[in-house]
Amino acid sequence: MDYSRREVIACGSSRIVNRLPEIGLDTAVDGILEGLACSPKRISSRYFYDPRGSALFEAITGLEEYYLSRTEKALIEALPFEAIAPAPDLDIVELGSGDHSKISLLLGGVSARLLSGIRYVPVDISCSALERSIAALARLFPALEVEGVVADYFHQMHPVSSGRRKLFCFFGSTIGNLSRKEAAAFMRDIAASMESGDSFLIGMDRVKDVRLLERAYNDSRGVTAMFNRNILSVLNGLLGSDFRPEKFEHRAFYNRSMKRIEMHLEATEDMTVGGGVLREGIPIARGEAIHTENSHKFDEGDIRLIGEAAGFDLRQVFSDENRLFSLVHYEKP
Ligand code: AVJ
Repeated sequence: MDYSRREVIACGSSRIVNRLPEIGLDTAVDGILEGLACSPKRISSRYFYDPRGSALFEAITGLEEYYLSRTEKALIEALPFEAIAPAPDLDIVELGSGDHSKISLLLGGVSARLLSGIRYVPVDISCSALERSIAALARLFPALEVEGVVADYFHQMHPVSSGRRKLFCFFGSTIGNLSRKEAAAFMRDIAASMESGDSFLIGMDRVKDVRLLERAYNDSRGVTAMFNRNILSVLNGLLGSDFRPEKFEHRAFYNRSMKRIEMHLEATEDMTVGGGVLREGIPIARGEAIHTENSHKFDEGDIRLIGEAAGFDLRQVFSDENRLFSLVHYEKP
């Protein structure tokens, strides 16, 4: 997470534009300090994704319990590309692109002729993930034009006026990380960046049996626990603080009334965390929990309402037969 200097990074024949310096490390640090001053304490889930966090998340996507990624990937692979992207010249803007696996599946069946008219713009907060996916895409789709953007897309949405048709993609049910209110605002921002006829393909994890949901966030190998604790190491890097991740336990459970999985880190002993910008330090009591993530789940009504509120037309909902996950295609009228 590079909040300073380098604004354009060469990456083979492609380039990456780093927009995090527009936020600046100071603003990011202020936000983190504000969250730690809250009661209960909280850390934004955007800070999970340093290189180690991104690698741990990729490991999560391969876990048996974590049905989300493989279910969504099967849906993407089965999508009729022409149905969602009718124009030959097209900008595909993927928010939170992570690794290149999803876009590769989407473009897998597209002819070389069509590919040469597509510009792919992956937007992610992790520069290392962008570098790796751009290198992989250059091998898989040499004709594809790629321009990576390092940005905090929840706060750095802006109109990409290219004069071309646009398809926004937002996979992984990452929208679930936002509160319902933030999600509505985010959808409106997306809609504002689009012109009539542009469309939006978004992955949403569905409300389902609580046991299935809780298993997905409490895997037997403890990878999710490592992923959760790693956020404290990321904070140590950004703040110069001395959190000891091993002194926290992973907690993940379904909150029925909010329709979301919540992740927390629970302190196993009384401690004072200091160092760097934490100065005199903050006391944390044994049993106290820091809230690190919400992962909202969506039902049929949510899918309809969230699009309507942003002024989208609901074109199509693609779901697996067990109705675990949905890919939703909205269009700007
Ligand atoms: C990447 C936000 C979709 O909420 O399921 C995985 C992150 N957290 N395991 C999710 C995550 C714990 C994931 N998203």
